[in-house]
Amino acid sequence: ETGVYEHFMLKEIDEQPAVIRNIITQYQNDQGQLNIGQHLQGLKIPSRVYIVACGTSYHAGLVGKRLLEQIAHIPTEVHIASEFLYDQPLIEGDPLFIFISQSGETADSRGVLDQIKKQGFRTLTVTNVQGSTLYREADYKLLTHAGPEIAVASTKAYTAQIAVVALLSIYLAEQKGIAGSIDMFQELRTISTAMDTLKDMKDKAKHIVDEYLTDQRSCFFIGRLLDYAVCLEGALKLKEISYIQAEGYAGGELKHGPIALIEDGTPVFVLITDERIAKNIRSNAEEVVSRGAKTCVIAAEGLHEEGDQWVLPRVHPLLTPLVSVIPMQLISYYAALQRGCDVDKPRNLAKSVTVE
Ligand code: F6R
Repeated sequence: ETGVYEHFMLKEIDEQPAVIRNIITQYQNDQGQLNIGQHLQGLKIPSRVYIVACGTSYHAGLVGKRLLEQIAHIPTEVHIASEFLYDQPLIEGDPLFIFISQSGETADSRGVLDQIKKQGFRTLTVTNVQGSTLYREADYKLLTHAGPEIAVASTKAYTAQIAVVALLSIYLAEQKGIAGSIDMFQELRTISTAMDTLKDMKDKAKHIVDEYLTDQRSCFFIGRLLDYAVCLEGALKLKEISYIQAEGYAGGELKHGPIALIEDGTPVFVLITDERIAKNIRSNAEEVVSRGAKTCVIAAEGLHEEGDQWVLPRVHPLLTPLVSVIPMQLISYYAALQRGCDVDKPRNLAKSVTVE
């Protein structure tokens, strides 16, 4: 039931603050402590993690890598399941394989799980569907508690996956005795409040769509570091539901080729949430503007400048994807709506891809 909503996608975008609060409730005990360990009984601290996933879940994995590396100090690789399946990297020691999957049924990820289990490696699935194949067949499982996701384009599953991997990273850090000063529950509460504000900025999203995407056939999303990971997700969301060709690109890579595609009026979404590279990405934005691009800057509070189109509330630097993805989800939604696309059921796509 979409209720007051015209589409499941918008409903699911709006549910994200509540999903984050639910994840806090699910993984916190009465004393306010992290209780995720009850799902990880007997798990030895891995020396290395391999994240394996597809599509949006792969993009969540790109964020998960930073969380595991920077919070738990565990070297982490992220792999596209369909690539890993036929091109397995050289594996040393006793790593942990983490499968991230909303549906828990994605054939490419299941193929890798089978392959990895045969080799005797330990496995953990992060999924939204209890009892799904990836849930059943992994040694350990963590639920994302996002509630059913109906729209083909994944939204709340992505933010839920990142939040759960953040809590997992804290748990592993605690187990290693290196837990730092991050109060992750507090940070996630701050996120849910920030999400509440952002999801209500629908008029801004509509306005941006009208101004930047009307009659456009292609566009770019550029960012660096974590912002780059979110740009990949923003571009995927836009292309899958509005059919506008969208490229997520690392800001510094533009000059190595794709800048050739910039024409008069090409829309370029520029994401800036990291102080360390704010100057660099601004100069990448200038490079495209001088070639005719029309930039739409989405920047964190404190890093914003006059003329920026969307200012994001400040949150923990490792968790910025949880807020910066929301403008992108909304822009994609309204772009699809403007074009009269079937938002919840885009052409050629299925909710769960059970063929290889
Ligand atoms: C994009 C989307 C897909 C899925 C991908 C993996 O919005 O939904 O890219 O993320 O097919 O699906 P799961 O997470 O179910 O394994």
